[in-house]
Amino acid sequence: MRWYIKYLILSLIFVIIYVSIYQYYDKYFDVKKSKTSNSSELIISVVVCGISRIEEVLAIIKSALIFSTPKDRIKFIIVTENDLLELLQEKLETYQNQRHFLFDLREIKFPGEDQELWRKLFKPCASQRLFLPSVLSDVDATILYLDSDTLFLSPPQEIFDYLRHFNSSQIAAMTPESEHKNVAWYPRFSSHPFYGECGVNSGVMLMDLTKMRSLKWEQEMLRLYEKYRLNLVFGDQDLINIYFSQHPEQLFILPCAFNYRPDHCMYVSMCPVEDGIKLLHGNRGYFHKTENQPIFNQLYESIQKHQFHSNPCRIIKEVEYQIQGTNSSKCSKLSDKFLQTPKRILKRNCETDDYRFDQ
Ligand SMILES: *[C@@H]1O[C@H](CO)[C@@H](O)[C@H](O)[C@H]1NC(C)=O
Ligand SMILES: *[C@@H]1O[C@H](CO)[C@@H](O)[C@H](O)[C@H]1NC(C)=O
Ligand SMILES: *[C@@H]1O[C@H](CO)[C@@H](O)[C@H](O)[C@H]1NC(C)=O
Repeated sequence: MRWYIKYLILSLIFVIIYVSIYQYYDKYFDVKKSKTSNSSELIISVVVCGISRIEEVLAIIKSALIFSTPKDRIKFIIVTENDLLELLQEKLETYQNQRHFLFDLREIKFPGEDQELWRKLFKPCASQRLFLPSVLSDVDATILYLDSDTLFLSPPQEIFDYLRHFNSSQIAAMTPESEHKNVAWYPRFSSHPFYGECGVNSGVMLMDLTKMRSLKWEQEMLRLYEKYRLNLVFGDQDLINIYFSQHPEQLFILPCAFNYRPDHCMYVSMCPVEDGIKLLHGNRGYFHKTENQPIFNQLYESIQKHQFHSNPCRIIKEVEYQIQGTNSSKCSKLSDKFLQTPKRILKRNCETDDYRFDQ
């Protein structure tokens, strides 16, 4: 009897030790894997300046996680001001129970002695994106840069899939600034060269950091700034346009559905979106305006308020409900295009009945 109990206790201790070791190794293995895996990791970078932008970047991250598949590994590199690092760290740690989400916080950095000059170039620190090749000097990959006023309406993998179409000279991808030169800003008003017929919009940009470094992109930006500083209206976006007007072979053009802005629907429908809108860009504050084209604000609010433990189908139902009262607005008339991809992705969640929202 006694030896039997001894044996039992011994086995129990053995099991406990085994389980602890196993867990330790599992964790260790997981950390190592996330640091070295590079083929399936999607790296997205957002620059955040000013505390008021924090809610926006959290909404982008939520949208990326809501619409991604569990096998995607998504890494957000947030570049921000020193005094926001702690707050962001705190907020993002709560997102980390999402298994496929990693984040990395970096401090804003500008080249050389011109720190203040670049910092003030138009919107607070928007020009930071020009220097991502050196700010992220340890990242040897093509990343997706996003303005803070954007939202995924599709799996992040979809835009990264365009990398397969890059040829050997292409270093970046963007969408046109406008679809028609009669209404586009650049051909009508700009006093500097720009890419193509209508210029490009820099709010959504795939950037091959490795190639950009080898082409001395940053030195080129400084040189173009010196030459064109008095002609710039949209700051860094103008510099990017000037660069690609001189090197058109280096740019890949993405479909406008990957940078869908109020201008695409507020007058006439200007962007073909048969396959649905993929990435929304609420520029000029449209995510925060309720009076004009409210569908931008409705989608932003619904995603921003979303809690990971609740059914994401609620986002679709909520926006559909709110739209009923507002479909006199031009963009809301295209609501099926805004919701097309979310509906396809979240279909199974909507078949169950466990979403609720306050009507
Ligand atoms: C990243 O992937 C490439 C090609 O798939 C491989 O050669 C390289 O060793 C990988 N790097 C790391 C750090 O895993
Ligand atoms: C890559 O594509 C661009 C745009 O179509 C083109 O101008 C360029 O010549 C191509 N480069 C190569 C190496 O084929
Ligand atoms: C919105 O559009 C739907 C379908 O076109 C229509 O049934 C509904 O009455 C419209 N609502 C308003 C407030 O215009």
